[in-house]
Amino acid sequence: MEERLRLEFNDWARAGRGESMERGHRPTGEQAIVRLDLKEDSRVLDLGCGSGWAARLMASRATKGRVVGLDISDEMIEQARAASVDFPQLEFRVGSAERLPFEDGEFTHAFSMESLYYYADMAQAVREVRRVLAPGGLFASVVDLYQENEPAHQWIEQLNVPVHLLSSGGYRELFTEAGFVEVTDERLYDPTPIPEDYTGGSFKSREDYLRYRETGSLLICGRVKA
Ligand SMILES: C[S@@+](CC[C@H](N)C(=O)[O-])C[C@H]1O[C@@H](n2cnc3c(N)ncnc32)[C@H](O)[C@@H]1O
Repeated sequence: MEERLRLEFNDWARAGRGESMERGHRPTGEQAIVRLDLKEDSRVLDLGCGSGWAARLMASRATKGRVVGLDISDEMIEQARAASVDFPQLEFRVGSAERLPFEDGEFTHAFSMESLYYYADMAQAVREVRRVLAPGGLFASVVDLYQENEPAHQWIEQLNVPVHLLSSGGYRELFTEAGFVEVTDERLYDPTPIPEDYTGGSFKSREDYLRYRETGSLLICGRVKA
């Protein structure tokens, strides 16, 4: 499965989808990053970082800390590295979310945007994030494909890889079972106007896109007990 994900997201990287994902994800991703309340010395993991836009944004806050972006796709990581030469505190690693190549308690914060539901063993990945976070550490994860967001379900048949479809309650349970405390969920909304002449792309119709936007992105946060 990991090889299949690597090849699929390498295709995405070559097709320029790293940049289009940045455009699509940034409006809600930025709101989630604000919730992390990063300090200049924060140590941050970006799980499934893609082309690294969020890692760069977080590195611009954690100026004296450390930010690591990790992704299964070596071609996404290549693009992320090429775009990040101005950030000495930022590094990128190719790897699997289910076996994080980090020590226990290495990070103070973890972020993940639109990545969790691709992992074959999501529970293992969320346990791994808990392991690499220090006591009091905070994990914020955003997903757009979840049970309550019906218009997004059309992606399931469009995608070339299998995905998990969890409800907001299912995500809360996943975090709690991995040992996180203070687990919360909330919706984040993208205020960017939708063009009147929208003719699809990710959605079959403008109405679907509108309903998707009105439903919002799902942000799940959990803390490691101090
Ligand atoms: C939809 S993209 C989101 C990328 C980025 N977070 C963004 O918002 O632009 C999902 C990312 O998760 C990565 N991914 C999928 N499965 C993974 C796994 N098992 N371990 C690490 N990364 C994975 C993919 O390679 C891809 O870059």
